[in-house]
Amino acid sequence: MENTSGLSDFQLENGIGPVTEKLTLGEIDLAKASKGEKAFNEKCASCHKLDEKYVGPAQRDVLTRRTPEYIVNMIMNPDEMGKKHPETKKLLAQYMTQMPYQNVSMQEALDILEYFRSVNPKK
Ligand code: HEC
Repeated sequence: MENTSGLSDFQLENGIGPVTEKLTLGEIDLAKASKGEKAFNEKCASCHKLDEKYVGPAQRDVLTRRTPEYIVNMIMNPDEMGKKHPETKKLLAQYMTQMPYQNVSMQEALDILEYFRSVNPKK
């Protein structure tokens, strides 16, 4: 289905990028979450804090705002998201900075997702 943004309903809800169907998520995997925390500190913390706005939005509650698939697509494909996705465009206008792709592998992105799940207040 198309809408005025030219994106499919899936893309509107879940972002544009390598994740094109719903992920199957089980119980939070703490070993992965701990790897994800390390990757977050290395590649994301220069712009994101968990609880405060910084160069980009605070991340503790990101799963309350976005689907897991949206988050992975944002990590893997921020340029295209910034150009085409209405929600990302809004954030771009607000933060005035385009998030760069940080050379994150798909596995690392999933580890970071697990980290975000482990810190989310509604887990
Ligand atoms: C150079 C700064 C910078 C780095 C590094 C960075 N980001 Fe971002 N990020 C931003 C900015 C600015 C935004 C909001 C504007 C936009 O979408 O480009 C954003 C948006 C996001 C969003 C969407 C948030 C929402 O509420 O929709 C997620 C998720 C995200 N970043 C995760 C990450 C992760 C994970 C990493 C590390 C792999 C990372 N970012 C690295 C600056 C950065």
